[in-house]
Amino acid sequence: MTPVVQLDAVSREFAGTAAVRELDLTVRRGEFTALLGPSGCGKTTTLRMIAGFLEPTAGRILLEGEDATRLPPERRNIGMVFQSYALFPHMTVEKNVAFGLKMRGIADGELRTRTGEALELVGLSHLAGRKPKQLSGGQQQRIALARAIAVRPSVLLLDEPLSNLDARLRIQMRQELARIQKETGLTAILVTHDQEEALELADSMVILDQGTVAQQGAPREVFRAPANRFVAEFLGYENFVELPDGRTVTIRPEHVEVLTPESTDSTPSDGTTVDAVLTAVRFRGTDCVVTAVSQGRTVLATSSDFELRSGRQVRVHLPAAHTIDLPRTKQELPTS
Ligand SMILES: Nc1ncnc2c1ncn2[C@@H]1O[C@H](COP(=O)(O)OP(=O)(O)OP(=O)(O)O)[C@@H](O)[C@H]1O
Ligand SMILES: [Mg+2]
Repeated sequence: MTPVVQLDAVSREFAGTAAVRELDLTVRRGEFTALLGPSGCGKTTTLRMIAGFLEPTAGRILLEGEDATRLPPERRNIGMVFQSYALFPHMTVEKNVAFGLKMRGIADGELRTRTGEALELVGLSHLAGRKPKQLSGGQQQRIALARAIAVRPSVLLLDEPLSNLDARLRIQMRQELARIQKETGLTAILVTHDQEEALELADSMVILDQGTVAQQGAPREVFRAPANRFVAEFLGYENFVELPDGRTVTIRPEHVEVLTPESTDSTPSDGTTVDAVLTAVRFRGTDCVVTAVSQGRTVLATSSDFELRSGRQVRVHLPAAHTIDLPRTKQELPTS
């Protein structure tokens, strides 16, 4: 099946500085792709190039298999929701939603039908006559979504569409997005900082690091097996341990076992066990978080052994089943 969107070694420079570097990306029909990464890593730049607001300095963009690298935005069948919503303040809700259809020269009857359908999809038909300033933030957000959907885009680009909403509304809108995507079979690329959002909505997750793909895969896979330290840190892994054999691994604190002579006198046969000293013990009610230091290496662990105290000699076990090997990223490799 021809991908809906394909980026082929796409780069974009601004005054000699690369914002996106040789980026490859494939989005298939009906797929929901989440684009994540730290501020400034090139997410918005990528979306703007796909939409045609920005030309790549190198590489190709294929839409539905056709080279669209130099095609103007209005000739690409793309819907975009901006972080700021960007509704036209002087137009009614209905006119806002109809705008893209009008631009595309859709005839009046069809235009009214599609506008009505889009408003219904976001549950705001009753507000068609209002102006944007008479709407709440969440309602404006839905209108921006309706406007993007009304043109029946082959791909919908969403640039942090939920980040201006409060926590409760965010979760509600997230569920709504999931429903709309299911109902319409929409293909979408969502930029988000929110890992939960990506986990809940996305079939595929792409993590960008300074304009290149650090890892791409199903969200569960990426969370379970981050490809390198950058991705692991971005996803909230805190333990980075260099093992005696030279490998660097990461492991969730809840998977690290703190062993004392009272808890066991045998050495686990799998994984790695090291002698360590506890330097901090923080009680959390149902368990405690301990910091163990072994030859300058720090390991965080959780334990339900409430006898643990700072200064205590222990052994720390990193079970093989839970340690994730982290190859070094290019940036971390020593330059020689
Ligand atoms: N018009 C521009 N002129 C010059 N530099 C730009 C321009 N647009 C973006 N950049 C730079 O390109 C890099 C990527 O910017 P981009 O907006 O794509 O980041 P982002 O991943 O969307 O970040 P955020 O999460 O903060 O929105 C940044 O270093 C930014 O300063
Ligand atoms: Mg951005």
